[in-house]
Amino acid sequence: MLILGLETSCDETAAAVVKDGRHVLSNIVASQIDIHAQYGGVVPEIAARSHIEVILPVINEALSTAGVTWDDIDGIAVTAGPGLFGSLLIGTLTARTIAHIRHKPLYAVNHVVAHTFANMLIDPQPEFPLLALSVSGGHSHLLLFESPLKYRLLGRTRDDAGGEAFDKVAKMMGLPYPGGVSIDKLAPEGDDRAYKLPISRLDGTLDFSFSGLKTAVLRTLQTEIGGDFRTHSSELPGRLTDTQIKNMAASFQRTIYETLVGQLLRAYNQYHPKSVVIAGGVSASRRLRAEVSRQIPLEMNYAPMQLCTDNGAMIAAMGYELAKAKLTTNPLELKTDPSLAI
Ligand code: KG4
Ligand code: ZN
Repeated sequence: MLILGLETSCDETAAAVVKDGRHVLSNIVASQIDIHAQYGGVVPEIAARSHIEVILPVINEALSTAGVTWDDIDGIAVTAGPGLFGSLLIGTLTARTIAHIRHKPLYAVNHVVAHTFANMLIDPQPEFPLLALSVSGGHSHLLLFESPLKYRLLGRTRDDAGGEAFDKVAKMMGLPYPGGVSIDKLAPEGDDRAYKLPISRLDGTLDFSFSGLKTAVLRTLQTEIGGDFRTHSSELPGRLTDTQIKNMAASFQRTIYETLVGQLLRAYNQYHPKSVVIAGGVSASRRLRAEVSRQIPLEMNYAPMQLCTDNGAMIAAMGYELAKAKLTTNPLELKTDPSLAI
């Protein structure tokens, strides 16, 4: 079965053709990172407009790279939410239109849940029950999957998403967007014990909270440049030394990963899953992977970087499961939902 997966929830326009939910025949991603980097983050209006410009060429490239035509495609899977409304609309309208005129079944996919499916595209495939830590620019979730479509939320962030915390802290220090990538690059050159930052322990729950950590970074940096809590964050970049930036990158990264993996381990001990996976843009981090492998007493496998950040292959992989379960959505009725729940 060949599924075309479409993803436009944020700043990546992506299309992929996946065979039988696990063989990636093509995976095309047009990233807008260069466009948004000059603003220090994603500008929703610009994101939506860029999706319109490239979505059809991206789909055509996904088909031609896979060496298939529309006749070969058995169904279309698209991100229905959560994400930026304008961005989501471009993907869902495109998918609905194509499904309608080409008489293809349509599958509505939850972006956050689909991130976990990047791990179904690697060998060996993880076994169920499966515990997933999914962290990106828009979400931070712990999910327990009994089977591919039977899952529940164990914990989530109460404020900022993990990737969002990376992006904001990087911005404070004048590092380029996306912050997770910048911090990942600089951290190995810093002392990860230079600054003591708080690990928020939400005792008795599997939730996360990162806003206190972000504020602690701001206060520490304000003090480092001889200012106080009134010093505006935009004054920081020009007044921090390279050493201070590297040390903060390393200390912040260590603290956030200790928090994430601490909760992952707590969930592991509570539910004893057969496998554990990490997903979402932040799971591309080598340092996070090292920390997970160190703490989780299972043989760990990780998806390649290009399947961790937003892509169409993970959408197609989840679409395949929906297809097997015959969970189609009428193209005329598919709802686009920026805050789609799990
Ligand atoms: O999943 P994703 O591509 O898009 C969303 O759904 O948000 O995740 C993007 C997030 C950004 O916040 C970015 O800073 C973070 O993932 N990220 C990383 C790394 N690569 C991307 N964070 C830490 N280390 C990385 N190597
Ligand atoms: Zn994502």
